Amino acid sequence: MTRTIGTVISNLEGPSTLKFDFVIREDSGKIPVNTGQFIQTKTEQGTLIGRVDEVLKTNRYFMQAESVREFEKTGRPLNEIFPVDRWEYLVAKTTPLGVYDSGNIKRVTYPPSPGSKVEKIDGNLLNKFLGLDENGLNIGKISFHDIKAKINLTKMFQKHLAILAISGAGKSYLTSVLFEELLGRKINLGNPAVIVIDPHGEYVGFGNDPKYKNRTKIYSEKDISVGISRLSPYQIMGFLPQMSSAQKRELTTIVQKLMKKKKGYGFKELEQEIEKSDAKRVVKDTMTSWLEHLKNSKIFQKYTRPNVKSLAQPGKLSILDLSQIVSKRDKQILVTYFASKLFWLRRTGQIPPFIFVVEEAHQFCPEGVSREGALSRRIIETIAREGRKFHASLVLISQRPIQLSTTALSQCNTHIIMRVTNPYDLKHIGESSEGVTSDVLKTIPGLRVGEALIVGEAVNYPLLLKVRERESKESDKGIKFEEALLNYRNQRKLNDKDMEAFM
Ligand SMILES: Nc1ncnc2c1ncn2[C@@H]1O[C@H](COP(=O)(O)OP(=O)(O)OP(=O)(O)O)[C@@H](O)[C@H]1O
Ligand SMILES: [Mg+2]
Repeated sequence: MTRTIGTVISNLEGPSTLKFDFVIREDSGKIPVNTGQFIQTKTEQGTLIGRVDEVLKTNRYFMQAESVREFEKTGRPLNEIFPVDRWEYLVAKTTPLGVYDSGNIKRVTYPPSPGSKVEKIDGNLLNKFLGLDENGLNIGKISFHDIKAKINLTKMFQKHLAILAISGAGKSYLTSVLFEELLGRKINLGNPAVIVIDPHGEYVGFGNDPKYKNRTKIYSEKDISVGISRLSPYQIMGFLPQMSSAQKRELTTIVQKLMKKKKGYGFKELEQEIEKSDAKRVVKDTMTSWLEHLKNSKIFQKYTRPNVKSLAQPGKLSILDLSQIVSKRDKQILVTYFASKLFWLRRTGQIPPFIFVVEEAHQFCPEGVSREGALSRRIIETIAREGRKFHASLVLISQRPIQLSTTALSQCNTHIIMRVTNPYDLKHIGESSEGVTSDVLKTIPGLRVGEALIVGEAVNYPLLLKVRERESKESDKGIKFEEALLNYRNQRKLNDKDMEAFM
Protein backbone atom coordinates (compact mmCIF):
# COMPACT_ATOMS: atom_id res chain seq x y z
CA MET A 1 0.00 0.00 0.00
CA THR A 2 1.24 3.45 -0.84
CA ARG A 3 2.43 5.68 1.96
CA THR A 4 1.01 8.75 0.30
CA ILE A 5 -2.31 9.53 1.89
CA GLY A 6 -3.14 12.99 0.61
CA THR A 7 -2.30 16.31 -0.96
CA VAL A 8 -1.92 19.71 0.69
CA ILE A 9 -4.68 22.06 -0.46
CA SER A 10 -4.86 25.79 -0.66
CA ASN A 11 -7.70 27.61 1.08
CA LEU A 12 -8.35 30.80 2.96
CA GLU A 13 -6.47 29.67 6.07
CA GLY A 14 -3.39 28.18 4.54
CA PRO A 15 -1.14 26.39 4.13
CA SER A 16 0.73 28.43 6.72
CA THR A 17 3.39 27.66 9.30
CA LEU A 18 0.62 27.30 11.91
CA LYS A 19 -1.86 25.10 10.09
CA PHE A 20 -2.68 23.47 6.80
CA ASP A 21 -5.32 21.18 5.35
CA PHE A 22 -4.85 18.21 3.10
CA VAL A 23 -7.35 16.24 1.08
CA ILE A 24 -7.15 12.51 1.50
CA ARG A 25 -6.43 10.26 -1.49
CA GLU A 26 -9.28 8.08 -2.57
CA ASP A 27 -7.22 4.88 -2.60
CA SER A 28 -5.55 5.30 0.79
CA GLY A 29 -7.60 2.75 2.74
CA LYS A 30 -10.83 2.66 4.70
CA ILE A 31 -9.77 4.94 7.56
CA PRO A 32 -6.56 6.54 6.32
CA VAL A 33 -6.30 9.19 9.03
CA ASN A 34 -7.57 9.74 12.56
CA THR A 35 -7.53 12.78 14.77
CA GLY A 36 -4.30 12.75 16.73
CA GLN A 37 -2.31 10.91 14.07
CA PHE A 38 1.11 12.14 12.89
CA ILE A 39 1.91 12.70 9.19
CA GLN A 40 4.88 13.95 7.18
CA THR A 41 5.33 16.13 4.10
CA LYS A 42 8.37 17.58 2.34
CA THR A 43 9.00 21.32 2.40
CA GLU A 44 11.95 23.48 1.44
CA GLN A 45 13.02 23.34 5.12
CA GLY A 46 13.13 19.52 5.33
CA THR A 47 10.57 16.91 6.36
CA LEU A 48 7.70 18.61 8.12
CA ILE A 49 5.92 16.58 10.79
CA GLY A 50 2.32 17.46 11.56
CA ARG A 51 -0.48 16.26 13.79
CA VAL A 52 -4.01 15.84 12.45
CA ASP A 53 -6.36 17.79 14.71
CA GLU A 54 -9.63 17.28 12.91
CA VAL A 55 -10.96 15.26 9.98
CA LEU A 56 -13.90 16.60 7.97
CA LYS A 57 -16.04 14.79 5.42
CA THR A 58 -17.66 16.86 2.75
CA ASN A 59 -19.71 16.42 -0.42
CA ARG A 60 -20.82 19.24 -2.72
CA TYR A 61 -24.02 17.34 -3.64
CA PHE A 62 -25.23 17.76 -0.08
CA MET A 63 -24.24 21.36 0.43
CA GLN A 64 -27.52 23.01 -0.57
CA ALA A 65 -30.27 22.17 1.91
CA GLU A 66 -33.09 23.05 -0.53
CA SER A 67 -31.77 20.89 -3.38
CA VAL A 68 -31.26 17.90 -1.05
CA ARG A 69 -34.85 18.30 0.14
CA GLU A 70 -36.22 18.68 -3.41
CA PHE A 71 -34.47 15.54 -4.60
CA GLU A 72 -35.72 13.59 -1.63
CA LYS A 73 -39.27 14.48 -2.64
CA THR A 74 -38.80 12.47 -5.85
CA GLY A 75 -38.54 9.36 -3.69
CA ARG A 76 -35.25 8.35 -5.31
CA PRO A 77 -32.08 8.58 -3.27
CA LEU A 78 -29.60 11.12 -4.57
CA ASN A 79 -26.93 8.53 -5.17
CA GLU A 80 -29.14 6.77 -7.75
CA ILE A 81 -29.34 9.91 -9.84
CA PHE A 82 -25.86 11.37 -9.46
CA PRO A 83 -22.37 9.94 -8.82
CA VAL A 84 -22.61 11.27 -5.29
CA ASP A 85 -20.08 8.88 -3.75
CA ARG A 86 -17.36 10.09 -6.09
CA TRP A 87 -17.78 13.58 -4.71
CA GLU A 88 -17.40 12.72 -1.09
CA TYR A 89 -13.99 13.62 0.19
CA LEU A 90 -12.07 13.91 3.43
CA VAL A 91 -10.08 16.89 4.58
CA ALA A 92 -7.61 16.66 7.45
CA LYS A 93 -6.90 19.83 9.42
CA THR A 94 -3.31 19.65 10.54
CA THR A 95 -0.93 21.47 12.86
CA PRO A 96 2.72 21.54 11.79
CA LEU A 97 4.84 20.53 14.82
CA GLY A 98 8.39 20.68 13.59
CA VAL A 99 10.79 19.99 10.78
CA TYR A 100 13.35 17.21 10.66
CA ASP A 101 16.44 17.99 8.66
CA SER A 102 19.70 16.01 8.65
CA GLY A 103 19.35 14.79 12.22
CA ASN A 104 18.03 18.05 13.69
CA ILE A 105 14.56 19.08 14.71
CA LYS A 106 13.72 22.65 13.86
CA ARG A 107 10.84 25.01 14.34
CA VAL A 108 8.50 25.34 11.38
CA THR A 109 9.36 28.65 9.72
CA TYR A 110 8.23 27.88 6.18
CA PRO A 111 4.87 26.40 5.08
CA PRO A 112 4.33 23.36 2.86
CA SER A 113 3.29 24.11 -0.72
CA PRO A 114 -0.23 23.45 -1.97
CA GLY A 115 -0.06 20.26 -3.99
CA SER A 116 2.65 18.64 -1.81
CA LYS A 117 2.16 14.98 -1.07
CA VAL A 118 1.29 14.06 2.52
CA GLU A 119 2.59 10.70 3.70
CA LYS A 120 2.06 8.32 6.60
CA ILE A 121 4.87 9.00 8.99
CA ASP A 122 7.95 6.84 8.98
CA GLY A 123 8.32 4.95 12.30
CA ASN A 124 11.99 5.83 12.79
CA LEU A 125 11.34 9.47 12.09
CA LEU A 126 8.47 9.55 14.60
CA ASN A 127 10.65 7.86 17.24
CA LYS A 128 13.35 10.49 16.78
CA PHE A 129 10.90 13.34 16.55
CA LEU A 130 9.12 12.41 19.78
CA GLY A 131 12.41 11.80 21.59
CA LEU A 132 11.69 8.12 22.30
CA ASP A 133 14.50 5.83 23.37
CA GLU A 134 15.18 2.22 22.38
CA ASN A 135 16.29 1.53 25.97
CA GLY A 136 13.45 3.54 27.47
CA LEU A 137 10.46 2.48 29.56
CA ASN A 138 7.90 0.71 27.39
CA ILE A 139 4.60 1.93 28.76
CA GLY A 140 2.34 1.33 25.79
CA LYS A 141 1.67 1.91 22.12
CA ILE A 142 1.31 5.24 20.40
CA SER A 143 -2.29 5.49 19.25
CA PHE A 144 -2.76 5.03 15.45
CA HIS A 145 0.90 4.08 14.97
CA ASP A 146 2.38 0.69 15.55
CA ILE A 147 5.14 2.15 17.69
CA LYS A 148 6.06 1.39 21.29
CA ALA A 149 6.07 4.44 23.53
CA LYS A 150 9.51 3.87 25.04
CA ILE A 151 10.13 6.84 27.23
CA ASN A 152 13.66 7.85 28.15
CA LEU A 153 14.24 7.26 31.88
CA THR A 154 16.16 10.48 32.45
CA LYS A 155 13.58 12.60 30.68
CA MET A 156 10.82 11.04 32.73
CA PHE A 157 12.47 11.07 36.17
CA GLN A 158 15.15 13.77 36.06
CA LYS A 159 12.44 16.02 37.42
CA HIS A 160 9.07 14.84 38.65
CA LEU A 161 6.01 13.12 37.25
CA ALA A 162 2.30 13.62 37.92
CA ILE A 163 -0.32 11.03 36.95
CA LEU A 164 -3.76 12.60 36.93
CA ALA A 165 -7.17 11.09 36.18
CA ILE A 166 -10.55 10.28 37.65
CA SER A 167 -11.00 7.18 39.76
CA GLY A 168 -10.96 4.01 37.68
CA ALA A 169 -9.24 5.54 34.64
CA GLY A 170 -6.19 3.32 35.07
CA LYS A 171 -3.63 5.34 37.08
CA SER A 172 -2.57 2.47 39.32
CA TYR A 173 -2.53 0.08 36.37
CA LEU A 174 -0.20 2.41 34.48
CA THR A 175 1.94 2.86 37.59
CA SER A 176 2.23 -0.93 37.87
CA VAL A 177 3.41 -1.04 34.26
CA LEU A 178 6.00 1.62 35.14
CA PHE A 179 7.15 -0.49 38.11
CA GLU A 180 7.51 -3.53 35.85
CA GLU A 181 9.68 -1.50 33.49
CA LEU A 182 11.80 -0.08 36.33
CA LEU A 183 12.27 -3.45 38.03
CA GLY A 184 12.92 -5.25 34.76
CA ARG A 185 15.48 -2.76 33.49
CA LYS A 186 18.82 -4.23 32.48
CA ILE A 187 21.43 -3.84 35.21
CA ASN A 188 23.96 -2.23 32.87
CA LEU A 189 21.48 0.58 32.21
CA GLY A 190 21.24 1.49 35.89
CA ASN A 191 18.40 0.84 38.31
CA PRO A 192 16.72 3.39 40.55
CA ALA A 193 15.20 2.43 43.90
CA VAL A 194 11.42 2.71 43.97
CA ILE A 195 9.48 3.49 47.14
CA VAL A 196 5.71 3.76 47.04
CA ILE A 197 3.25 5.18 49.54
CA ASP A 198 0.26 2.92 48.99
CA PRO A 199 -2.77 4.07 51.05
CA HIS A 200 -5.11 1.44 49.56
CA GLY A 201 -2.80 -1.54 49.13
CA GLU A 202 -3.06 -1.28 45.34
CA TYR A 203 0.45 -2.60 44.67
CA VAL A 204 0.70 -5.50 47.11
CA GLY A 205 0.15 -7.90 44.17
CA PHE A 206 3.85 -7.40 43.32
CA GLY A 207 4.71 -9.24 46.53
CA ASN A 208 2.92 -12.42 45.34
CA ASP A 209 4.01 -12.29 41.74
CA PRO A 210 6.53 -15.00 40.82
CA LYS A 211 8.44 -12.64 38.51
CA TYR A 212 8.64 -9.65 40.83
CA LYS A 213 8.37 -10.93 44.39
CA ASN A 214 12.14 -11.20 44.83
CA ARG A 215 12.47 -7.55 43.98
CA THR A 216 9.57 -6.37 46.12
CA LYS A 217 9.28 -5.78 49.82
CA ILE A 218 5.95 -4.95 51.38
CA TYR A 219 5.70 -3.22 54.74
CA SER A 220 2.28 -3.16 56.36
CA GLU A 221 1.01 -1.54 59.55
CA LYS A 222 2.75 -4.01 61.84
CA ASP A 223 6.13 -3.42 60.19
CA ILE A 224 6.06 0.37 60.25
CA SER A 225 6.88 2.68 63.13
CA VAL A 226 8.64 5.94 63.84
CA GLY A 227 11.26 5.82 66.57
CA ILE A 228 10.65 8.68 68.98
CA SER A 229 14.23 8.62 70.27
CA ARG A 230 15.60 9.30 66.82
CA LEU A 231 13.51 12.39 66.27
CA SER A 232 15.13 15.78 66.47
CA PRO A 233 13.23 18.56 68.30
CA TYR A 234 12.62 20.05 64.89
CA GLN A 235 10.97 16.85 63.66
CA ILE A 236 8.79 16.51 66.75
CA MET A 237 7.66 20.08 66.31
CA GLY A 238 6.91 19.36 62.68
CA PHE A 239 4.27 16.90 63.90
CA LEU A 240 2.83 19.50 66.28
CA PRO A 241 2.30 22.57 64.13
CA GLN A 242 -0.11 24.02 66.69
CA MET A 243 2.70 24.71 69.18
CA SER A 244 3.49 28.29 70.05
CA SER A 245 7.05 29.59 69.65
CA ALA A 246 7.55 29.66 73.46
CA GLN A 247 6.55 26.01 73.70
CA LYS A 248 8.82 25.18 70.76
CA ARG A 249 11.79 26.84 72.47
CA GLU A 250 11.19 24.93 75.69
CA LEU A 251 10.78 21.63 73.89
CA THR A 252 13.99 22.16 71.91
CA THR A 253 16.02 22.67 75.11
CA ILE A 254 14.43 19.65 76.75
CA VAL A 255 14.91 17.29 73.81
CA GLN A 256 18.49 18.44 73.27
CA LYS A 257 19.27 17.74 76.92
CA LEU A 258 17.70 14.31 76.68
CA MET A 259 19.54 13.48 73.47
CA LYS A 260 22.86 14.22 75.15
CA LYS A 261 21.96 12.08 78.15
CA LYS A 262 20.41 9.06 76.48
CA LYS A 263 20.75 7.30 73.14
CA GLY A 264 17.32 5.74 73.08
CA TYR A 265 14.41 7.32 74.90
CA GLY A 266 10.64 7.09 74.75
CA PHE A 267 7.67 9.24 75.67
CA LYS A 268 8.06 8.37 79.34
CA GLU A 269 11.58 9.82 79.53
CA LEU A 270 10.52 12.85 77.54
CA GLU A 271 7.60 13.53 79.88
CA GLN A 272 9.86 13.13 82.92
CA GLU A 273 12.32 15.60 81.44
CA ILE A 274 9.53 18.10 80.83
CA GLU A 275 8.44 17.75 84.46
CA LYS A 276 12.00 18.33 85.64
CA SER A 277 12.48 21.45 83.52
CA ASP A 278 12.01 24.94 84.89
CA ALA A 279 9.29 25.87 82.42
CA LYS A 280 6.09 27.39 83.76
CA ARG A 281 3.45 24.95 84.94
CA VAL A 282 1.05 25.94 82.17
CA VAL A 283 3.71 25.42 79.46
CA LYS A 284 4.63 22.02 80.95
CA ASP A 285 0.97 20.96 80.94
CA THR A 286 0.43 22.06 77.36
CA MET A 287 3.56 20.27 76.18
CA THR A 288 2.56 17.10 77.98
CA SER A 289 -0.85 17.23 76.41
CA TRP A 290 0.63 17.68 72.91
CA LEU A 291 2.86 14.70 73.55
CA GLU A 292 -0.16 12.76 74.72
CA HIS A 293 -1.60 13.36 71.25
CA LEU A 294 1.42 11.77 69.62
CA LYS A 295 1.58 8.97 72.18
CA ASN A 296 -1.96 7.92 71.37
CA SER A 297 -0.92 7.13 67.87
CA LYS A 298 0.41 3.59 67.57
CA ILE A 299 2.95 4.56 64.94
CA PHE A 300 5.33 6.11 67.49
CA GLN A 301 7.52 3.54 69.15
CA LYS A 302 10.99 3.38 70.57
CA TYR A 303 12.67 2.50 67.27
CA THR A 304 12.05 3.21 63.59
CA ARG A 305 10.94 0.35 61.36
CA PRO A 306 11.73 -0.41 58.61
CA ASN A 307 15.28 0.82 58.47
CA VAL A 308 15.11 3.75 56.06
CA LYS A 309 18.29 2.79 54.23
CA SER A 310 16.85 -0.62 53.43
CA LEU A 311 13.84 1.01 51.79
CA ALA A 312 15.97 2.40 49.01
CA GLN A 313 17.70 -0.43 47.15
CA PRO A 314 18.65 -0.17 43.46
CA GLY A 315 16.19 -2.05 41.26
CA LYS A 316 13.92 -2.92 44.20
CA LEU A 317 10.37 -1.87 44.98
CA SER A 318 9.47 -1.02 48.58
CA ILE A 319 5.78 -0.71 49.27
CA LEU A 320 4.58 1.09 52.38
CA ASP A 321 1.09 -0.39 52.56
CA LEU A 322 -0.87 2.06 54.71
CA SER A 323 -4.27 0.48 54.02
CA GLN A 324 -4.65 -0.75 57.60
CA ILE A 325 -3.90 2.66 59.11
CA VAL A 326 -7.12 4.58 59.56
CA SER A 327 -5.97 7.96 60.83
CA LYS A 328 -5.11 10.41 58.07
CA ARG A 329 -2.81 12.25 60.45
CA ASP A 330 -0.84 9.06 61.19
CA LYS A 331 -0.46 8.42 57.48
CA GLN A 332 0.77 11.96 56.96
CA ILE A 333 3.25 11.61 59.83
CA LEU A 334 4.65 8.43 58.29
CA VAL A 335 5.01 10.05 54.90
CA THR A 336 6.67 13.09 56.47
CA TYR A 337 9.12 10.98 58.42
CA PHE A 338 10.10 8.56 55.66
CA ALA A 339 10.20 11.18 52.90
CA SER A 340 12.40 13.50 55.01
CA LYS A 341 14.75 10.72 55.97
CA LEU A 342 15.01 9.38 52.42
CA PHE A 343 15.70 12.84 51.06
CA TRP A 344 18.35 13.55 53.66
CA LEU A 345 20.06 10.20 53.04
CA ARG A 346 20.00 10.90 49.32
CA ARG A 347 21.40 14.40 49.75
CA THR A 348 24.28 12.96 51.70
CA GLY A 349 24.82 10.23 49.11
CA GLN A 350 24.01 7.37 51.48
CA ILE A 351 21.30 5.81 49.31
CA PRO A 352 20.94 5.42 45.52
CA PRO A 353 18.86 7.75 43.33
CA PHE A 354 15.25 6.95 44.04
CA ILE A 355 11.73 7.41 42.78
CA PHE A 356 9.24 8.22 45.54
CA VAL A 357 5.71 7.43 44.43
CA VAL A 358 2.80 8.96 46.34
CA GLU A 359 -0.64 7.52 45.58
CA GLU A 360 -3.58 9.73 46.56
CA ALA A 361 -1.11 12.62 46.56
CA HIS A 362 -3.87 15.16 47.28
CA GLN A 363 -4.20 13.57 50.74
CA PHE A 364 -0.53 14.11 51.51
CA CYS A 365 0.15 17.32 49.69
CA PRO A 366 -3.12 19.26 49.56
CA GLU A 367 -3.69 22.80 48.40
CA GLY A 368 -5.54 25.26 50.60
CA VAL A 369 -5.51 23.20 53.81
CA SER A 370 -4.04 24.51 57.09
CA ARG A 371 -0.63 23.18 58.18
CA GLU A 372 -2.19 20.98 60.86
CA GLY A 373 -4.21 19.18 58.21
CA ALA A 374 -1.28 18.86 55.83
CA LEU A 375 1.75 17.72 57.85
CA SER A 376 3.48 16.06 54.91
CA ARG A 377 2.98 18.91 52.43
CA ARG A 378 6.17 20.71 53.34
CA ILE A 379 8.57 17.83 52.70
CA ILE A 380 6.82 16.86 49.45
CA GLU A 381 7.07 20.45 48.24
CA THR A 382 10.73 20.54 49.28
CA ILE A 383 11.53 17.39 47.30
CA ALA A 384 9.50 18.82 44.40
CA ARG A 385 11.63 21.97 44.44
CA GLU A 386 15.05 20.57 45.25
CA GLY A 387 14.92 16.82 44.54
CA ARG A 388 16.09 17.12 40.97
CA LYS A 389 19.59 18.20 42.00
CA PHE A 390 19.96 15.07 44.09
CA HIS A 391 18.15 12.64 41.80
CA ALA A 392 15.27 12.21 44.19
CA SER A 393 12.28 11.98 41.90
CA LEU A 394 8.62 12.26 42.84
CA VAL A 395 5.63 10.62 41.21
CA LEU A 396 2.42 12.24 42.40
CA ILE A 397 -0.75 10.32 41.58
CA SER A 398 -4.10 11.97 42.09
CA GLN A 399 -7.72 11.83 41.12
CA ARG A 400 -8.29 15.42 42.27
CA PRO A 401 -5.61 17.58 40.63
CA ILE A 402 -7.37 20.73 41.80
CA GLN A 403 -6.83 19.69 45.43
CA LEU A 404 -3.14 19.01 44.88
CA SER A 405 -0.55 21.60 45.98
CA THR A 406 0.12 23.95 43.06
CA THR A 407 3.74 24.28 44.19
CA ALA A 408 4.27 20.53 43.93
CA LEU A 409 2.25 20.10 40.75
CA SER A 410 4.03 22.90 38.95
CA GLN A 411 7.37 21.19 39.62
CA CYS A 412 6.17 18.02 37.88
CA ASN A 413 7.63 18.51 34.44
CA THR A 414 5.91 15.52 32.94
CA HIS A 415 2.20 14.94 33.29
CA ILE A 416 0.47 11.75 32.32
CA ILE A 417 -3.19 12.57 32.01
CA MET A 418 -5.83 9.91 31.68
CA ARG A 419 -9.61 10.43 31.60
CA VAL A 420 -10.70 13.54 33.48
CA THR A 421 -14.26 14.83 33.29
CA ASN A 422 -14.63 17.41 36.04
CA PRO A 423 -14.46 20.87 34.40
CA TYR A 424 -12.57 22.41 37.36
CA ASP A 425 -9.92 19.70 37.22
CA LEU A 426 -9.67 20.10 33.46
CA LYS A 427 -9.19 23.84 33.78
CA HIS A 428 -6.51 23.27 36.42
CA ILE A 429 -4.72 20.76 34.17
CA GLY A 430 -4.89 23.19 31.25
CA GLU A 431 -3.26 25.85 33.41
CA SER A 432 -0.63 23.69 35.07
CA SER A 433 0.46 21.33 32.27
CA GLU A 434 2.82 22.85 29.78
CA GLY A 435 2.06 21.81 26.23
CA VAL A 436 -1.62 21.12 26.82
CA THR A 437 -3.23 23.23 24.11
CA SER A 438 -6.97 23.73 23.96
CA ASP A 439 -7.14 21.08 21.19
CA VAL A 440 -5.35 18.57 23.38
CA LEU A 441 -7.45 19.49 26.43
CA LYS A 442 -10.64 18.75 24.52
CA THR A 443 -9.60 15.12 24.00
CA ILE A 444 -9.14 14.38 27.74
CA PRO A 445 -12.80 13.74 28.76
CA GLY A 446 -13.15 11.32 25.82
CA LEU A 447 -10.20 9.09 26.78
CA ARG A 448 -11.05 5.45 27.48
CA VAL A 449 -9.77 3.39 30.42
CA GLY A 450 -6.08 2.71 29.78
CA GLU A 451 -5.60 5.59 27.34
CA ALA A 452 -3.18 8.28 28.41
CA LEU A 453 -1.90 11.57 27.22
CA ILE A 454 1.70 12.30 28.08
CA VAL A 455 2.89 15.88 28.01
CA GLY A 456 5.99 17.72 29.18
CA GLU A 457 9.68 16.98 29.32
CA ALA A 458 9.46 13.21 28.82
CA VAL A 459 8.25 13.67 25.24
CA ASN A 460 8.95 16.38 22.70
CA TYR A 461 5.25 16.74 21.84
CA PRO A 462 2.03 15.68 23.59
CA LEU A 463 1.56 12.02 22.92
CA LEU A 464 -1.55 9.89 23.08
CA LEU A 465 -0.93 6.29 23.99
CA LYS A 466 -2.65 3.09 24.97
CA VAL A 467 -1.08 1.69 28.11
CA ARG A 468 0.31 -1.78 27.49
CA GLU A 469 -1.04 -4.87 29.22
CA ARG A 470 0.50 -5.45 32.61
CA GLU A 471 2.47 -8.62 33.30
CA SER A 472 2.31 -8.49 37.08
CA LYS A 473 -0.51 -9.65 39.32
CA GLU A 474 -3.17 -7.10 40.08
CA SER A 475 -3.88 -6.49 43.77
CA ASP A 476 -7.25 -7.68 45.06
CA LYS A 477 -8.12 -4.00 45.44
CA GLY A 478 -8.13 -3.65 41.66
CA ILE A 479 -10.47 -6.53 40.83
CA LYS A 480 -13.85 -5.89 39.28
CA PHE A 481 -17.08 -5.62 41.30
CA GLU A 482 -18.43 -8.94 40.01
CA GLU A 483 -15.16 -10.71 40.76
CA ALA A 484 -15.28 -9.35 44.32
CA LEU A 485 -18.83 -10.71 44.69
CA LEU A 486 -17.72 -14.17 43.60
CA ASN A 487 -14.65 -14.09 45.85
CA TYR A 488 -16.85 -13.16 48.79
CA ARG A 489 -19.30 -15.94 47.95
CA ASN A 490 -16.53 -18.55 47.67
CA GLN A 491 -14.99 -17.37 50.90
CA ARG A 492 -18.36 -17.65 52.64
CA LYS A 493 -18.82 -21.18 51.29
CA LEU A 494 -15.43 -22.19 52.69
CA ASN A 495 -16.24 -20.62 56.05
CA ASP A 496 -19.58 -22.45 56.18
CA LYS A 497 -17.81 -25.74 55.42
CA ASP A 498 -15.31 -25.07 58.18
CA MET A 499 -18.16 -24.32 60.53
CA GLU A 500 -19.99 -27.55 59.58
CA ALA A 501 -16.82 -29.56 60.10
CA PHE A 502 -16.32 -27.91 63.46
CA MET A 503 -19.87 -28.63 64.63
N1 LIG B 1 -4.47 -0.26 30.42
C1 LIG B 1 -5.42 -1.03 30.92
N2 LIG B 1 -5.74 -2.18 30.33
C2 LIG B 1 -6.68 -2.99 30.84
N3 LIG B 1 -7.38 -2.74 31.97
C3 LIG B 1 -7.12 -1.61 32.61
C4 LIG B 1 -6.13 -0.69 32.12
N4 LIG B 1 -6.08 0.35 32.96
C5 LIG B 1 -6.98 0.09 33.92
N5 LIG B 1 -7.61 -1.06 33.73
C6 LIG B 1 -8.64 -1.65 34.59
O1 LIG B 1 -9.49 -0.60 35.05
C7 LIG B 1 -9.73 -0.71 36.44
C8 LIG B 1 -9.35 0.58 37.15
O2 LIG B 1 -7.97 0.82 37.01
P1 LIG B 1 -7.08 1.46 38.17
O3 LIG B 1 -7.29 0.74 39.45
O4 LIG B 1 -5.70 1.53 37.65
O5 LIG B 1 -7.74 2.91 38.27
P2 LIG B 1 -7.26 4.17 39.12
O6 LIG B 1 -7.20 5.31 38.18
O7 LIG B 1 -6.03 3.84 39.88
O8 LIG B 1 -8.47 4.39 40.12
P3 LIG B 1 -8.46 4.96 41.64
O9 LIG B 1 -8.23 6.44 41.54
O10 LIG B 1 -9.82 4.65 42.14
O11 LIG B 1 -7.37 4.26 42.39
C9 LIG B 1 -8.96 -1.92 36.95
O12 LIG B 1 -9.85 -2.99 37.11
C10 LIG B 1 -7.98 -2.22 35.85
O13 LIG B 1 -7.76 -3.60 35.71
MG1 LIG C 1 -5.55 3.73 41.88
